[in-house]
Amino acid sequence: MSSPLTYWDYIKLDVIHDLQTNVQTDHYDEVMFIAIHQHFELWFAQVMRNLDEVIRRLTNDPPDIRAGTALMIRVNCEFALATQGFEVMKTLARESFLAFRGALQGTSGLQSAQLTIIELLTGRREDEMYHEKISGSGMEEFMSKYYGPQGVLPRIARERLHKGTLRSAYDHVTAQPGIAPEDVRALQQQLVHFDEQLAGWRPKHYEAAATVLGRDFTETAGTVGNHQSCHENLTTAMSLTHRYFEDVAAQLKSQD
Ligand code: HEM
Repeated sequence: MSSPLTYWDYIKLDVIHDLQTNVQTDHYDEVMFIAIHQHFELWFAQVMRNLDEVIRRLTNDPPDIRAGTALMIRVNCEFALATQGFEVMKTLARESFLAFRGALQGTSGLQSAQLTIIELLTGRREDEMYHEKISGSGMEEFMSKYYGPQGVLPRIARERLHKGTLRSAYDHVTAQPGIAPEDVRALQQQLVHFDEQLAGWRPKHYEAAATVLGRDFTETAGTVGNHQSCHENLTTAMSLTHRYFEDVAAQLKSQD
């Protein structure tokens, strides 16, 4: 007879502990640095999964608008929770970070493909990728593997997007006859909140990076091999941030 399932095994606590063992130095703070990135990626994975399901619920025939809205509330909680990770990151002292930053070599958040997939699921077009604008020679191999025509990201995007995006699902729902205005409004509120959170991610990331790096933020090059400073690279990333539901926000405002 197999042994009964335990909390430890079900949650895979041993795997969670193993996840922070890839430290490149013995600096005390490096484990936190890894854990916070994993925290973001864990919640990004949940957001992606839920966005897939929201899109499915909204494009059902007939659309299940209330169930879609209920799940968008969860997405918003998860995204807020993820973003809160920057507050922990901001407790990392510049000197501590510099003690292990060099050992991280060419790793960069620019390789955080899940955030890009979330944007694609929300409504960013594949031809509006901004990564090549801030990547340099240090990222060539990564870029062709992930963003090239046969790359991982376009493939994932194609697989995931065949049911449409959050934006196209919303447009589909609102084109249906007989949807109760209060249901539409409740969905709109969640979509606008998500759009605001997504747009707010980069300013919060910028602030965290600037806090941790101090004067190195403007004075040293980023890790992606284009010789721009961290500040310049992140300013470019922020300038290319999209809003997907700005019109819906304006519509809600006009009804207030
Ligand atoms: C000490 C904390 C952090 C610093 C100093 C930092 C620094 C940077 C810098 C300088 C870039 C621009 C590329 C480059 O020049 O290397 C970048 C990009 C990026 N980082 Fe971070 N980062 C930090 C934490 C995080 C965390 C916790 C995440 C969560 C996943 C993250 C995700 C990203 C993403 C997605 C990009 C691509 C640009 C964008 O989409 O806005 N970073 N980071």
